[in-house]
Amino acid sequence: MARTLIRGGLVVTAAEETYADVLVDGERVAALAAPEVAEAWAPGADRVVDATGMYVIPGGVDAHTHMEMPFGGTVASDTFETGTRAAAFGGTTTIVDFAIQQVGGTLRAGLDAWHAKADGNCAIDYAFHMILADVNDAVLKEMDQLVSEGVTSFKMFMAYPGVLYSDDGRILRAMQQAANNGALPMMHAENGIAIDVLIEQALANGRTDPRVHGEVRKALLEAEATHRAIQLARVAGSPLYVVHVSAAEAVAELTAARDLGLNVFGETCPQYLFLSTDDLARPGFEGAKYVCSTPLRPVEHQAALWRGLRSDDLSVVSTDHCPFCFVGQKDLGRDDFSKIPNGLPGVENRMDLLHQAVLDGHITRRRWIELACATPARMFGLYPRKGTIAPGADADLVVYDPAAEQTVSAATHHMNVDYSAYEGRRLTGRARTVLSRGTVVVDDGKYTGHAGHGSYLKRDTCQYLV
Ligand code: URP
Ligand code: ZN
Ligand code: ZN
Ligand code: ZN
Repeated sequence: MARTLIRGGLVVTAAEETYADVLVDGERVAALAAPEVAEAWAPGADRVVDATGMYVIPGGVDAHTHMEMPFGGTVASDTFETGTRAAAFGGTTTIVDFAIQQVGGTLRAGLDAWHAKADGNCAIDYAFHMILADVNDAVLKEMDQLVSEGVTSFKMFMAYPGVLYSDDGRILRAMQQAANNGALPMMHAENGIAIDVLIEQALANGRTDPRVHGEVRKALLEAEATHRAIQLARVAGSPLYVVHVSAAEAVAELTAARDLGLNVFGETCPQYLFLSTDDLARPGFEGAKYVCSTPLRPVEHQAALWRGLRSDDLSVVSTDHCPFCFVGQKDLGRDDFSKIPNGLPGVENRMDLLHQAVLDGHITRRRWIELACATPARMFGLYPRKGTIAPGADADLVVYDPAAEQTVSAATHHMNVDYSAYEGRRLTGRARTVLSRGTVVVDDGKYTGHAGHGSYLKRDTCQYLV
């Protein structure tokens, strides 16, 4: 088993910052050691990584990705192979992707289909949530089985009627089942029935351009659905995790619930922190690059999101990485914004955008690691194997250069998509060396990993409950 010594860096976890050498034995962290101790260990090391002037951080945990996801008549452009490789370049070493139940199908068939896409192809470790598209008696029973096998979280949609949508009755039943089997219900909280009325009215008035996507998917309809999801979870006695929160009014609903001490958690994504309706309103058809749901909001919403991230009313930043190329995919909606496939690329950019947020004073360095590594690992039952640096944890480690300058661009990114949502943005900070279970997978801009290195992770139930 190969031994690696990472020497001289500032080890940053959610809990502390300390100068220590990190000893890696095979796939695991063996110890954090003072230089004298590491000195004695060094002669037996197969590789010594000099981290002087660098941070040594846990590999990022991105708890919300959609590789190869079928949506709107097309398929998200990153495969598990290209998407996980790009994640590794960006310092992320674990993803939790969403397997999808087909309407009329079983959870097992959905899970098998996602294993067929991912197994043997990933550069980094991966796990699955399950999307419930068709809740019925048999599916509720199957949920128990999946939980016992390590698929412990289930997403439902209050949006997308006729596609992935669940009505309140189905949602309540799934939440009741989760209250009994320990699963964590996840919610796409937008009132899709009302939104579809507004879409139809807008199109009837000849309003077809991408900016209208942001207008019809109103903040109030995100807040209303968030409120309703919280009350349904209270009735069921289950916890609740609200995905991709973008509206200040929705954060207020989470704050009110959390002030009651409820197990209600929120996630936001970099696009809501760094982009806005100004991007949706870009001239020509450029706005299509910024169509996702929940939608980008007016820039004023960002302050509430940052405040939520500091107060833990928002506990996780994940990407909702769901890339569609501008040419050939986003342009399916050139004459009708409602036909633009929903989703933004970002799995490669998350760690760096959040490091920039540290430099800009929005969050502390430890909070960066908490939001991007430790809490997603706890929330989805992967801690302390993932999300921290400690003896016995997987050696998923990033030697991070906090002074490296970069200009984000589709010309240099590794995601399989023909544009960057952050094109031209200057960021300070970048992953230099990335280890996945003790193997160097990215080294100084070069990919040294391989498809199939990544292992499937069975998860425990949520470790973040109060
Ligand atoms: O626009 C988005 N978010 N696309 C991915 C599917 C979802 O709702 O998370
Ligand atoms: Zn969603
Ligand atoms: Zn999503
Ligand atoms: Zn390998």
